[in-house]
Amino acid sequence: MLTINSQLKEVYAHPIGRDLLKKVLFQKALSERIITNPLVSRLKLKTLPVLTMGAVDRAFLEAFLQVLNEAPDRPRPVEKGPVQAAWWKEAVFYQVYPRSFKDSNGDGIGDLCGIIEKLDYLKSLGVDAIWLSPIYDSPNDDNGYDIRDYHKIMTEFGTMEDFDRLLAEVHARGMKLIMDLVVNHTSDEHEWFQRALTEPHSKYGDYYLFRDEPNNWTSIFGGSAWKYCPERKQYVLHLFSQKQIDLNWENPELRREIVAMIRWWLEKGVDGFRLDVINFISKRAGLPDGNEKIGKMMGLYGAEHYFYGPRLHEYLRQIRKEAFAPYNAFTVGETPGIGMEMAKLLTAAYREELDLIFSFDHLETPGHGKFDDYRYDLNYYKEYIIYWLENYGNQCWMSLFFENHDNPRMVSKIDPDPQFRFVLAKLLATMLLTLPGTPFIYQGQELGMINKDFQSMADLRDVESLNFYEIWRKEMGDAAAFRRILAGSRDHARTPMQWEKAKYAGFSTVEPWIGTDEDYKICNVEDQMKREDSVLNYYRKLIQLRKSHPVLVYGETAFVNRKVRDLFTYYRRDEQAVFYVECNLCRNQLKRRGRRPEGLRLLSNYPENEGHELRPYEATVWRLK
Ligand code: GLC
Ligand code: CA
Repeated sequence: MLTINSQLKEVYAHPIGRDLLKKVLFQKALSERIITNPLVSRLKLKTLPVLTMGAVDRAFLEAFLQVLNEAPDRPRPVEKGPVQAAWWKEAVFYQVYPRSFKDSNGDGIGDLCGIIEKLDYLKSLGVDAIWLSPIYDSPNDDNGYDIRDYHKIMTEFGTMEDFDRLLAEVHARGMKLIMDLVVNHTSDEHEWFQRALTEPHSKYGDYYLFRDEPNNWTSIFGGSAWKYCPERKQYVLHLFSQKQIDLNWENPELRREIVAMIRWWLEKGVDGFRLDVINFISKRAGLPDGNEKIGKMMGLYGAEHYFYGPRLHEYLRQIRKEAFAPYNAFTVGETPGIGMEMAKLLTAAYREELDLIFSFDHLETPGHGKFDDYRYDLNYYKEYIIYWLENYGNQCWMSLFFENHDNPRMVSKIDPDPQFRFVLAKLLATMLLTLPGTPFIYQGQELGMINKDFQSMADLRDVESLNFYEIWRKEMGDAAAFRRILAGSRDHARTPMQWEKAKYAGFSTVEPWIGTDEDYKICNVEDQMKREDSVLNYYRKLIQLRKSHPVLVYGETAFVNRKVRDLFTYYRRDEQAVFYVECNLCRNQLKRRGRRPEGLRLLSNYPENEGHELRPYEATVWRLK
């Protein structure tokens, strides 16, 4: 057991301790060497309050120690060597955000029949599996992540018959379909919650987390995480919006209902799930107050009590054993705040919990958050990838992604200069499809879509953006608050998919639920299909390459030029083939190190460049053997 008499190095040797220390250093943009330095590593925890001049206090240490002491599991030492093959390691995934993908009936909202219309497009891109963001019945406070009925389709999206047809059509094309599973919370309009309010003594009374007094936890979407329910004269916990109420996983009856619901969808034939904020499902018993210092540092109070809760592993094993495993279903967990060691405990094959997780450690560079307006430096991505691939081990497998429906577009974060837009989009594609791991493409990424030119708050729809704008305008004024929202708004990724150079981007025949700007005139599927050198065709070719050469999936990876800034180069090799990938991570010309590789130049974002200089953001895939 760790105590305040333990040394810093003992904390660092604890898997969760290591991940958390790294997280703190990351937030402060400090190097890990600060802790591995022998002088510092021998310090006892209790000396920290004085040494840090109060930045860390006794209560902080106690909160920290509690998290570690309640997490006794250790990952096995990492082995190198061959990995076990699986369809989901070979597959290229594509995320569809149904509301913004394709409207088939002219109401301005994307729908299931719209997705069916575009399945041939996805097939021709080379997609193997589709992840659908939630399509269940919902009042749409958070665009479907607030589920009212797990067994019904949202009316705007269509009917259960449409869904069955979609699933059959996906399978008929040899693709797979995974659904979004949102079980940390339900909508406040879900029958369970309604009955919890009106029949507090029924079994539903305990399905949510009611308390007579709120604690100090804050919501991820801003403000207190508690809402008063006059029906029960009690408060109820909501980590997200006021209409997304957290479920009480401690209740075995509730867990049984969830298992039954998952099996119901698997019976229909869906191939797996993406598990929404799944690491939040176990909350520390008694729901104690969050530590003040941790809360201030993270801008979120209470997270240490649920982001990696004491019963998380137990719950995951239960749903795996009782629901996923009997159907051989695939699972990828969305796990905000989870670092490498925790990730091993969640995904290592021998643990039998999840197949993959989405870690978010690469979406911002050190010292930055989603709402900061800054330029993302791809050298950090290089560092992140090397660290994960060399330490994750052959019992674990990475998910690779740059975008999803919760983040602005990656190209815009790295370099908004329009002259680099398309080469940069292809550079990202190159890394995504030639590094080891399962690639996830977010709709529009395959065109090089970028952030939107929103003019005012009236253009925005997302509950997160709207809530934070109200909070920040009081702190910093309207203009500064709007700038922050523009930097991080999830709506950048939620505008209509750009299909054609036609009004409303060919997404709909009427004005869509969220506006689009003029960008579809220069960036759309129709044009990019025709242009040989488009981002879309580049994605297609890369996906084909990955499919025809297993070395790009299972082959060994060797990084070279590790210490050379702005250059990211690696080999992928097996008995059959050797590939070499060369990436210039910056907007300047770069001298190639050593000779020009001797081999076949297979694909490049600068098709004509044969020189000794690497051009801005140049990416080239060579076949050496
Ligand atoms: C996940 C989803 C996000 C949603 C939140 C609450 O982070 O990706 O869109 O708002 O969970 O369900
Ligand atoms: Ca529609």
